[in-house]
Amino acid sequence: MRKRPEWKALEAHHAELSQTHLRDLFAAQPGRGEQMTAEAVGLYLDYSKHRATDETVGLLIELARACGVTERRAAMFAGERINTTEGRAVLHVALRAPRDETIMVDGVNVVDGVHEVLDRMAGFADRVRSGEWTGHTGRRITNIVNIGIGGSDLGPVMAYRALRDYSDRSMTFGFVSNVDSTDFVETTSTFDPEETLFIISSKTFSTLETMTNANTARAWCLEKLGDEAAIAKHFVAVSTNAEAVRAFGIDTDNMFGFWDWVGGRYSMDSAIGLSTMLAIGPKHYAEMLSGFHAMDVHFQNAPLEANLPVLMGLMAVWYRDFFGAQTAAVLPYDQYLERFPAYLQQLTMESNGKHVTLDGARVDYETGAIYWGEPGTNGQHSFYQMIHQGTSLIPCDFIAFGESLNPLGDHHDILTANVLAQAEALAFGKTADEVRAEGTAEELVAHRVFEGNRPSSTIVLEKLTPYALGTLVALYEHSVFVQGAVWGIDSFDQWGVELGKVLAKRIIPELQATDDGDLTHDSSTNALIRRFRDMRGEGG
Ligand code: F6P
Repeated sequence: MRKRPEWKALEAHHAELSQTHLRDLFAAQPGRGEQMTAEAVGLYLDYSKHRATDETVGLLIELARACGVTERRAAMFAGERINTTEGRAVLHVALRAPRDETIMVDGVNVVDGVHEVLDRMAGFADRVRSGEWTGHTGRRITNIVNIGIGGSDLGPVMAYRALRDYSDRSMTFGFVSNVDSTDFVETTSTFDPEETLFIISSKTFSTLETMTNANTARAWCLEKLGDEAAIAKHFVAVSTNAEAVRAFGIDTDNMFGFWDWVGGRYSMDSAIGLSTMLAIGPKHYAEMLSGFHAMDVHFQNAPLEANLPVLMGLMAVWYRDFFGAQTAAVLPYDQYLERFPAYLQQLTMESNGKHVTLDGARVDYETGAIYWGEPGTNGQHSFYQMIHQGTSLIPCDFIAFGESLNPLGDHHDILTANVLAQAEALAFGKTADEVRAEGTAEELVAHRVFEGNRPSSTIVLEKLTPYALGTLVALYEHSVFVQGAVWGIDSFDQWGVELGKVLAKRIIPELQATDDGDLTHDSSTNALIRRFRDMRGEGG
């Protein structure tokens, strides 16, 4: 990669541009704040506060072309098996394709299957929401608990919190993911099994955490309801594995399927979104899907220089590989998006946290950054100090809405003023002369200087609707795609999670053993296992 002329051109360009302050870039280009923007499907991206010029964007696009980003994008949309290490197509875009579209995989139009499942989900959601579907004892279902982990949890919980304003408030939604029993106990502590429906969400239906929680839920239900027949009214499954669902005791009539071409972290708009649909209803869910689809169409067709996911993805590459930025902050100025950074962590890091290319060669450049964040303005009173004055360059994505879903006094203006102020302060800072001119004592001047030159994107949407959420999630999905395509890695596998899973399965019986047996781990792990065994013994 480093030998590519396009890469070398960017290195040379970086050597020059890294000496230039954003203040100078703005001074040299008076219209920059309007020119370095792009807008599509209700989403406005201001990328003018990036340490980049039109030349930078041009050079990054040349790199993207040289790395085959457009060909890989076409291959994804065409249903080719671009997840080569797992031999799978990558077709989350088919999950939101309109009914009349055709996307073929192995001679089958997968869009038909997608809509068949969506229709079944809608029928089920209507029955539960209306009270027609009751629990085993005839009581209305008022509590929905999604049991899943990773992509089978983070998307559903994020979407539920994000779209709470559109949800049926007569129902309570809980999400159990952690194998720590506290998660199950606390989530269900106020729920009555007679009124509770569990959605067991697991693509594989074999994930240890999810199956442990599912079995606990089953026992919790049966303890009160006493009758195996109750399971059919209180458990449904979302999975690709019908056999395992049946073996668990869930009638496959109450199973909502998806396909191996949907990656876990790309599945929130598959049947994994059943809890979302139960919360907001099929109509709002369809609006969310149309937001996703609108961004898919934009990503597929817009010229690269006006293509939002391409611009975002290439900026991420620019900072990661040429400025050495190790992390990126995502800062939504909307309380409803409180779990959006957590959702993005799996999307970005499980996708692009890879050190070998598609053909197995070790990369000689940096890949995926660490993503993190909190909703504004809370982060401002916590970690923003470091973004402003720390020694690391942390590119930020600010996400803001024109309208609040809960307008109250001047809260929204104050919120908006804060997001704009943060982006301005990061970019332009405050010089020593400006600090002195305020009468600051000389010994404090250095402390009160803001160097500025700290980059950010500002993403503006009108209002947090289901449609808007769909566009926003698809924006990041495709930005991740662009980054992975430039880096030449498989953004759709996750081999890095395997080893820990295997070792945990080996350690469980070792922890539970009463005799000292032969522990054959390293001396640290052996000693820790013994210590936990002793504590287990003491605890009874
Ligand atoms: O953490 C690994 C992983 O495979 C994720 O990719 C996935 O989202 C999660 O586990 C849950 O998997 P499943 O839906 O099969 O239970």
